[in-house]
Amino acid sequence: MKVSGSFLSSKNIPRDISKLNDTDIDYIHVDIGDGKFVKLKTMPFREMRNIYKFTSKRLDVHLMVKKPSKYIPLYAELNTEYIIFHVEVLEDIVKDLELIKKYSIKAGLAISPETKVSELVPYLPYLDVILIMSVVPGKGGQEFIEETKDKIKEVRALLNSYKSKALISVDGGINEETKNLCADADILVAGSYITNSDDFQEKITSLR
Ligand code: DX5
Ligand code: ZN
Repeated sequence: MKVSGSFLSSKNIPRDISKLNDTDIDYIHVDIGDGKFVKLKTMPFREMRNIYKFTSKRLDVHLMVKKPSKYIPLYAELNTEYIIFHVEVLEDIVKDLELIKKYSIKAGLAISPETKVSELVPYLPYLDVILIMSVVPGKGGQEFIEETKDKIKEVRALLNSYKSKALISVDGGINEETKNLCADADILVAGSYITNSDDFQEKITSLR
């Protein structure tokens, strides 16, 4: 299992990103909120970009924003493996996925707990990853929604039936117990479980 570390709940971001950098974590998960799509409003890009100097890990960017097209060119500038935005946005989704691909970055769609898996169908040919939200997007430290277990199974069946090679990532409330409900995933995103602990590596290892 791959692990992506979120620093959304961190009280000292540069310190925790450096600490994550010293582990074998696969990606740094970057949560971006615009204060509109979600209440959360994260730092402007010009401040955010300084933070990534503290890591050589590839970034897994999760845009919780109304207008992904505004953010894609900015985050494409960094050491970015994935840019993921929400299937619930009203922008032209195919156009935005193609914009990500133009930068030779892997593209993904995130799906919120209340959204049906069938919403993803039109976009499957464009997707390298699907981010299944196991909490309502917008803040760290929430409890894993149990029904996500069935949603992961549903997405896996959908990918198989369309012969898609997209990976499944699960985000929110991940810990050593809830990871057992995500056996069918490829990547687990974990925030507070790692950053609230004294031993980041031990927590990461427990998720693999
Ligand atoms: C929620 C974010 C998650 C969150 C994960 O809106 O997308 O990435 O920070 O944090 P934990 O693991 O604390 O739920
Ligand atoms: Zn996230």
